[in-house]
Amino acid sequence: MQPVLLVTLLSVLGLVCSLDNGLMRTPPMGWLAWERYRCNTDCTNDPDNCISEHLFRAMADRLAEDGWRALGYEYVNIDDCWTSKKRDAQGRLQPDPKRFPSGIKALADYVHAKGLKLGIYGDMGLYTCGGYPGTTLDTVQIDAETFAEWGVDMLKLDGCYSNDSMKAEGYPKMSAALNATGRPIAYSCSWPAYQGGLPPQVNYTQLGEICNLWRNYGDIQDSWDDVLNVIDWFGSNQEVLQPAAGPGHWNDPDMLIIGDFGLSYEQSKVQMALWAVLAAPLFMSNDLRSISDKAKEILQNQMAISINQDRLGLQEIRNSIQNILFVFQDKYFEVWKRTLSKGEYAVAFLLTANDGTPRPYLANLAKLYIVDCRLGYKVYDVFDSSFLGIFTLIDVIYLKINPSGVVLLHISPVCV
Ligand SMILES: *[C@@H]1O[C@H](CO)[C@@H](O)[C@H](O)[C@H]1NC(C)=O
Ligand SMILES: *[C@@H]1O[C@H](CO)[C@@H](O)[C@H](O)[C@H]1NC(C)=O
Ligand SMILES: *[C@@H]1O[C@H](CO)[C@@H](O)[C@H](O)[C@H]1NC(C)=O
Repeated sequence: MQPVLLVTLLSVLGLVCSLDNGLMRTPPMGWLAWERYRCNTDCTNDPDNCISEHLFRAMADRLAEDGWRALGYEYVNIDDCWTSKKRDAQGRLQPDPKRFPSGIKALADYVHAKGLKLGIYGDMGLYTCGGYPGTTLDTVQIDAETFAEWGVDMLKLDGCYSNDSMKAEGYPKMSAALNATGRPIAYSCSWPAYQGGLPPQVNYTQLGEICNLWRNYGDIQDSWDDVLNVIDWFGSNQEVLQPAAGPGHWNDPDMLIIGDFGLSYEQSKVQMALWAVLAAPLFMSNDLRSISDKAKEILQNQMAISINQDRLGLQEIRNSIQNILFVFQDKYFEVWKRTLSKGEYAVAFLLTANDGTPRPYLANLAKLYIVDCRLGYKVYDVFDSSFLGIFTLIDVIYLKINPSGVVLLHISPVCV
């Protein structure tokens, strides 16, 4: 085998020196507090929404009882503002005693008893972004040990209040410290987002060796503009980002905001579709106690989830070289294609225009450069849950895409 081919094959299979803790062979799924609940510590006036053990227990209950866990949403993740303003007498991080009176170990036990996993938050710096105690180089080890003793399953390490050299030393150091605890703890690194997300400031080879996932770009906010902005950045930089992702090590475009305040029904499907083709972690940040049926249906769409979780773990190609030749394009229309295992594909047709009328698009498989099985392909519309039929390579697939909306197709070969 030629060396170049071998390297490509190995990286496709995710075997090139990736973090070896056995975790997150497909993108992680679950719930994360930040986007919706922020640093709300006012449990006196807002007891149901403040950052407290009550909130995380409530979300664990919903994940376990409302069908989420069965679909793979298994992490319940704490974000900033959970600690006391001071470390304890032994120099350990400690939870705020009023908001987490039972402690993190008890919360982990509760979450585990529901068949779920607990994630926690730290910051490689003097303070967290919310001004709570950070993890400095000399407290990396004790923090890793504390998290392991509590039975934590994942750590998100943010990067406020530190400089480049502290991050460059601290992020790998935490990876080694987590490993040394002997407890498999998934590791989410915010490091690249603080370095602009691109080489030469960011070394994706190194990230794949030390982290299970990493935030490449700024925080998502609760708006369509923000979702589009993230999608656009990931599309524009796909040559760098796509090869960095694979089983055990993922790009993270940030939380799903479906079920919150900012997205319409169509826009919510866009986020789900794009996060599926991006092989993105699916961490919802919403209120599972009061989420609408429509939002829940999108987030629980089994075919969208199975695309996201495809075991090959290849990230999308937007208007890939092959497609650019054929795909109808304008400023407001994009075609995203993801290669799945078993010769299958997912293709998202994204219309960002908001001029009011659904836009027709005549696709065919040859145009999409899906040509391996000459007998044709079975085509499903993921959000309509409808089987569109078996198409030869040149049969017309007539699509109508709603304004600021998407059609997501799942395409599987009839050849065996
Ligand atoms: C620690 O790293 C070694 C070598 O990469 C790996 O075999 C082991 O599974 C890791 N252990 C944990 C707990 O992450
Ligand atoms: C980075 O921050 C650390 C901790 O505050 C400090 O000791 C170090 O001098 C800083 N390095 C630079 C290059 O500013
Ligand atoms: C990136 O990291 C890898 C693995 O740690 C290392 O071998 C390589 O030299 C680094 N590349 C650059 C440009 O620093």
